[in-house]
Amino acid sequence: EFVGHTAIVVFGASGDLAKKKTFPALFGLYREGYLSNKVKIIGYARSKLDDKEFKDRIVGYFKTKNKGDEDKVQEFLKLCSYISAPYDKPDGYEKLNETINEFEKENNVEQSHRLFYLALPPSVFIPVATEVKKYVHPGSKGIARIIVEKPFGHDLQSAEELLNALKPIWKEEELFRIDHYLGKEMVKNLLAFRFGNAFINASWDNRHISCIQISFKEPFGTEGRGGYFDSIGIIRDVIQNHLLQVLTLLTMERPVSNDPEAVRDEKVRILKSISELDLNDVLVGQYGKSEDGKKPAYVDDETVKPGSKCVTFAAIGLHINTERWEGVPIILRAGKALNEGKVEIRVQYKQSTGFLNDIQRNELVIRVQPNEAMYMKLNSKVPGVSQKTTVTELDLTYKDRYENFYIPEAYESLIRDAMKGDHSNFVRDDELIQSWKIFTPLLYHLEGPDAPAPEIYPYGSRGPASLTKFLQDHDYFFESRD
Ligand code: BG6
Repeated sequence: EFVGHTAIVVFGASGDLAKKKTFPALFGLYREGYLSNKVKIIGYARSKLDDKEFKDRIVGYFKTKNKGDEDKVQEFLKLCSYISAPYDKPDGYEKLNETINEFEKENNVEQSHRLFYLALPPSVFIPVATEVKKYVHPGSKGIARIIVEKPFGHDLQSAEELLNALKPIWKEEELFRIDHYLGKEMVKNLLAFRFGNAFINASWDNRHISCIQISFKEPFGTEGRGGYFDSIGIIRDVIQNHLLQVLTLLTMERPVSNDPEAVRDEKVRILKSISELDLNDVLVGQYGKSEDGKKPAYVDDETVKPGSKCVTFAAIGLHINTERWEGVPIILRAGKALNEGKVEIRVQYKQSTGFLNDIQRNELVIRVQPNEAMYMKLNSKVPGVSQKTTVTELDLTYKDRYENFYIPEAYESLIRDAMKGDHSNFVRDDELIQSWKIFTPLLYHLEGPDAPAPEIYPYGSRGPASLTKFLQDHDYFFESRD
């Protein structure tokens, strides 16, 4: 697939995100044939590195699977170069502009196409966006797009400030705010699955569904990044963005068309329908040492301030105030240092009543990762002479069904969308504001003088001991696989 000659600039190119996600994603696109060699990729950062040192640094994270991939690595690296320059002086940007101009001239590019990826800490975000606009934007001679990474603010006020600072510089249509969960295969499937299947669509409401849970579990703590995490916490880290985005796609009304703005309009509408959070619907935790004492407690991290009440686990019950969802608790649940790594959506249907015994609720499970799958638990008669019922599954496990399909990494999928100018899977300004409106009062409470102490749970466990009761209170029925 070809989008034309494109210059891709990655700011923060020597940082962790660029190294672990952005460049591997660009390589992945190249390896799979979704990025032609008509691109020029320029890494830009403050670190003093020459081209070779830079390439040595990024190449270790590239994924090669098949014969010939090593050659592709070499071909890809030929498309890359590096500029080391400060973020706050014009020289580097001027040099960058010259480099891109040369590339465009050599290739007789008539309409310039420039993609800027800001893998940067928030402190330099506005200055870089400003300078890029001033020195490297092609103006009326072409198209420029800018991809920005979270965090988009720390609360409602700072998010508004960020938006306002950016507004006079970059147009909303040029901006691509990444939430990488929107690039995950199973998340991208949600609208097709809901609106493409009459029986799902028809039962997608409070008459049939009793509870929805979206859960994020990571088996590791914040070791080494504690200092950073301490002012963030799990709600800002994954709930306010990743899980909430999944929630919007799961609960929004049918958009009037598949136009990206129509989709985003509906997402905003559903966000506006979420009731104010009730503290009784919130359970917060922090991990302590593992039961065998081998894994450290969150506060054992030297970079964490002593006595920190930072939340590493949260379960939040939300209510959507629409005719469709009234009365259906929606649980967003996320934690670090848990017993497994898994991201899953569980939609629990109401229990059927009637003459049958021993039947259970239907449950639709959408496993986002690892090992993408979708399965529906059904009641069915035990085969043979028995009249008893049993629970079985209609199972769509991707690796069995789609053996030869390539499922792109989230970042691959999103960078490709941004190159094509498709905003469907990026966060719009009003969406961002709504998401902060939902969580800011809770965050202030959890970080304020009356903050409750988070419940300590052992590293490697399911979470705080009161989770079971919390789930039961929210009408979530769980069994061993939870
Ligand atoms: C990031 C968070 O946004 O998402 C991390 O900052 C988290 O703390 C990560 O580990 C999870 O992403 P994934 O794709 O590994 O599920």
